[in-house]
Amino acid sequence: MNNVRDYIRTIADFPHEGIMFRDVTTLFADARGFRMAIDQLLHPYAGIPIDKVVGLEARGFILGGALAHQLSTGFVPIRKKGKLPGTVISEAYQLEYGEAVMEVHDDALKPGERVLIIDDLLATGGTAEAGIKLCRRLGAQVIGCAFVIDLPELGGRTKLEQMEMPVHALTSFDGT
Ligand code: PRP
Ligand code: MG
Repeated sequence: MNNVRDYIRTIADFPHEGIMFRDVTTLFADARGFRMAIDQLLHPYAGIPIDKVVGLEARGFILGGALAHQLSTGFVPIRKKGKLPGTVISEAYQLEYGEAVMEVHDDALKPGERVLIIDDLLATGGTAEAGIKLCRRLGAQVIGCAFVIDLPELGGRTKLEQMEMPVHALTSFDGT
């Protein structure tokens, strides 16, 4: 168990047949694995100023809280539609079937703030793209997006790199 990857459990046929679900709860539950993940997620950003960590619901909150604590920054949640109590701005993104919406409070970031976006997994990149757009609409500068897992076959990394967004992922899996 020397790599973050070793702590990720794969569950076949969840949420539907043919999907290999990459389960990070086993990584989060292990003291050594979780610390390793947080340390490695931060590694590329050593010495780079970051004002806020922005986490994408839901597993990005678990990682983002720990990252913000480690960096001594604030934490900002980007949530699914209807969950935030204040005035929000919204971005729609594509799901396998249909569309979903992500939201952020309209005063959560100040123009010019340097933010790091965090989530557990990069698949098609739709969720992260919506997150980047929301941060940019508030005038923040997204300095990077970090993930535990990249599924490169689903094209998310390519999509984000086309938005001039540096992507950092700790491990990748082939197949879906
Ligand atoms: C999963 C995962 C990422 C997103 C990646 O979240 O945690 O947030 O999908 O997919 P994408 O790159 O194709 O957008 P999910 O939407 O299942 O919701 P949850 O985190 O709230 O469980
Ligand atoms: Mg998610």
